[in-house]
Amino acid sequence: MRKAIGIDLGGTFIKAALVDQEGAILYKEEAPTLAERGPDDILLRIEQMIRDIAAKHALQISDLSGLGIAIPGFIDDATGVADEVVNIGWRNVAVREPLHARLGIHVAMENDANAAALGEAWAGAGRGRRFALCVTLGTGVGGGVVIDGKVLRGANTMAGEIGHMVMVPGGAPCNCGHHGCLETISSATGVVRLAREGLARAQAAGESSALAAVQDLTAAAVFAAAEAGDVLANAVVDEAIETLAWGLGTAANVVNPEVIVVGGGMSRAGERLFAPLREAFPRYALRRVALAATIVPATLGNDAGVVGAARLAL
Ligand code: BGC
Repeated sequence: MRKAIGIDLGGTFIKAALVDQEGAILYKEEAPTLAERGPDDILLRIEQMIRDIAAKHALQISDLSGLGIAIPGFIDDATGVADEVVNIGWRNVAVREPLHARLGIHVAMENDANAAALGEAWAGAGRGRRFALCVTLGTGVGGGVVIDGKVLRGANTMAGEIGHMVMVPGGAPCNCGHHGCLETISSATGVVRLAREGLARAQAAGESSALAAVQDLTAAAVFAAAEAGDVLANAVVDEAIETLAWGLGTAANVVNPEVIVVGGGMSRAGERLFAPLREAFPRYALRRVALAATIVPATLGNDAGVVGAARLAL
């Protein structure tokens, strides 16, 4: 059976997995990204992880069908370069050539959300569906479109960047240089920003919120406070979800997906996210578009990126 290694480079962790041609993970491991050490150091450590995984499984590097690597930002597939990856501070970093030169195997690269979309469409929540739209809600909002098992990449590998649809012209600054992107509202970071701003307004107006007592304000903490009935937390969560429904509805009108897979850390919020999202979605998607589309949680969780990256190499 053919095997490939999938790498998912994230802001906090580098995940690596040995995946077979059926999409089963045979082995996986992760290491801290340590982005501050710079791209050369990261690429060296990725190479080492691959050599270690092969050795642990008594494989030669040449026994592998290849290596797929998922990058959390904008890539240029024509040149094999990571063009702009704000989360880890990369700009114009050659990825494919150095890894190919050192390992001597086929190297495929992809945006992280596109890779996750491919993973879910191949071996997760989108399995068996021809038209899948996937979104990942984490530090950023990533997106990917998979049609008949192929990622839609576009003219210069930028297709599917749902997180950078401008929802509020002149809104909060986004990492991409624009303002008011979906990512500034419906990502984990966006939820924390909305909560902080809401808290400042509430305090100025002399209103109380359970969020004021939270030491480490995370999206998970805001969702927990919302579940516990906090008014401000519920307003923040509602705004993030309504805006997400708007973005997904608009994207769905273009793609006409059968399935919309929602993944990333924030998708773990469960029904407090999915129930209102499903309810709001038809307000933005055309009636026939909404009829065709089922909104489901990702099933591969944190593994979607490595599985999709390996799929590319296979
Ligand atoms: C980036 C996307 C990426 C997403 C998830 C966004 O900030 O622009 O390219 O897929 O974060 O990491």
